Amino acid sequence: MVYLRPSRVLLLGLSLSTSCVVGGSIQKNDLSLPADAQTNRDRVKDIFTTSYDAYKKYAFGHDDLKPLSKSFTDSRNGWGASIVDAMSTMWVMGLTDDLNEAIEFASKIDFSKSNTQDNVSVFESTIRYIGGLLSTYELTGNQNQALVDKAKQLADKLSQAWVGGSDIPYGHIDFASNTPAKANSNIAEAGTLTMEWWALSKYTGDPKYVQLAEKSAKRVANNNAPLPGLPGQVIDPSTGNPVGGYVTWGGGSDSYFEYLIKYPRLTNTDDDFWSNTWRTAVDSSINNLLSVSDVGNHVYLADYDSNGRLHHVGSHLACFHGGNWIMGGKLTNNDTIFNHGLDLVEACWNTYSSTATGIGPEAFAWKSSGDNGDFTGSNNPTALQEAFYVQHGFYPTSSYYILRPEVLESNFYAWRATGDSKYLDRAAQAISSFEKYLKVDEGFAGLTNVNDNSGNGTKVDDMESFWFAEVLKYLYLTFDDPKHVSLDEYVFNTEAHPFKAPSVKHNYGTGIDQNTPTPQPTETTPTTSTEDSEATAPTASQSVPSLTDSLGDGLGLGRNMAKLFRKDM
Ligand SMILES: *[C@@H]1O[C@H](CO)[C@@H](O)[C@H](O)[C@H]1NC(C)=O
Ligand SMILES: *[C@@H]1O[C@H](CO)[C@@H](O)[C@H](O)[C@H]1NC(C)=O
Ligand SMILES: *[C@@H]1O[C@H](CO)[C@@H](O)[C@H](O)[C@H]1NC(C)=O
Repeated sequence: MVYLRPSRVLLLGLSLSTSCVVGGSIQKNDLSLPADAQTNRDRVKDIFTTSYDAYKKYAFGHDDLKPLSKSFTDSRNGWGASIVDAMSTMWVMGLTDDLNEAIEFASKIDFSKSNTQDNVSVFESTIRYIGGLLSTYELTGNQNQALVDKAKQLADKLSQAWVGGSDIPYGHIDFASNTPAKANSNIAEAGTLTMEWWALSKYTGDPKYVQLAEKSAKRVANNNAPLPGLPGQVIDPSTGNPVGGYVTWGGGSDSYFEYLIKYPRLTNTDDDFWSNTWRTAVDSSINNLLSVSDVGNHVYLADYDSNGRLHHVGSHLACFHGGNWIMGGKLTNNDTIFNHGLDLVEACWNTYSSTATGIGPEAFAWKSSGDNGDFTGSNNPTALQEAFYVQHGFYPTSSYYILRPEVLESNFYAWRATGDSKYLDRAAQAISSFEKYLKVDEGFAGLTNVNDNSGNGTKVDDMESFWFAEVLKYLYLTFDDPKHVSLDEYVFNTEAHPFKAPSVKHNYGTGIDQNTPTPQPTETTPTTSTEDSEATAPTASQSVPSLTDSLGDGLGLGRNMAKLFRKDM
């Protein structure tokens, strides 16, 4: 093991006046790129410009390119999601002309009404539009005030999803009537707003945005949970209470956990609640969800149902967890968490390296007799899946790939945190697979079956905006100067939009037992600016759940979840 354990000295509060931050840095010192990094960076940039040129030609101003039919679709209310989501990647890649054109476009979007019949998702609009607008505002030197104004226009509409002073916003609202759509929400939708709405409060000077976001995430964290720190996925916004108790790090829950550590890192808040809640969630996951496959000893996180049974199922979406544990393991100086993070990265990469195309499936399962639930439920493998499992230690249960980022995202964290060149090799292999199997006449398209490399496999006629925002940004940065958008200077929102963070603090949280006093530095942690003042904005106290009309139609899990549950192998 080459992982250095940062000195604990700072935790004892002995040298707080120093400006030299030791503990908690995420990136390994002195990372060096191999000679072929430039080539791989150029390959990624080519994929980006090819994709974006096709988007401009056939879909400009719409949300997604349909790369096969050379047309467009509006999956995010028709405000030009690909443009807004691509902006921060254009900045990273130095694509100035495209960026200026995109900023010009984004500055004029009318967020007062939806351009489609769809209701507006609070979560999706936050992570893609508000995240994209505010990140680009920062990256371009805080000059383009219109980007802040647009984010505010959208957030003011979205704010109406908190009905009658409730803690939890409805997942969707009808922009025409400003009424919430009647559906349950989930903890990802309710708990993935803090970073973006905090930034909006910072740039508008109005604390109401961060207050709404904080009270929602805090309510999720304070609700009764099936396992310590691990709330169930579904939540009723009319009461703020949980519905059922299905625990997963996958879609519908994922980025709630992600922001528990990213938000305190972004803000350097003195409120240990967030980091401690993250620590509790991770500790509880290690104790209850960690599952090792009988074949190959791959380390996964199982799901846990309301009957207390483990499900040995994983997903592309959940594969952000390795990177998140690497990040949080470093910030909390905890090698146990860090090393589990690396194990999760290994298992997720195995889902790529095991398929015929070298690209991983949407969802998969494994068998494990070593934990409390050898229950595989509806995922009992077919003969074909069994044969795959015996070779690879997992089997696909949904075999498509729709241009998702998570595996390469975690691979990027692993590279920057360890300096192990195997992560560069993997990223280069992914680029080759994309060039070989996703390239179409104009642009790039997903696959219906990642295990079909016959060249005749069917492609998916949709290029979602996260291809620009996430996949190509994380791939590019993997081969870029590690000081450029360093993980010690920026925090990525769940859509990979970078936000500038203050210097890494000496510690994040006091540990998993929130009642045990631990040596705390006196609260003089040096900060370089007033940047984190909003982080301590008072939060509305936990209000009594409002008893508006009861809901119950549908799970409100959104497109991603609907796709997640589709079985096709
Ligand atoms: C949008 O929400 C309204 C209010 O709940 C509902 O009546 C309508 O059916 C929804 N529209 C769509 C397209 O889901
Ligand atoms: C590191 O994290 C593990 C897992 O949550 C925990 O058991 C351990 O006590 C932590 N170590 C320290 C020094 O806090
Ligand atoms: C792909 O389809 C073509 C036309 O049907 C066929 O000739 C070819 O053998 C197929 N290639 C593979 C590798 O299956």
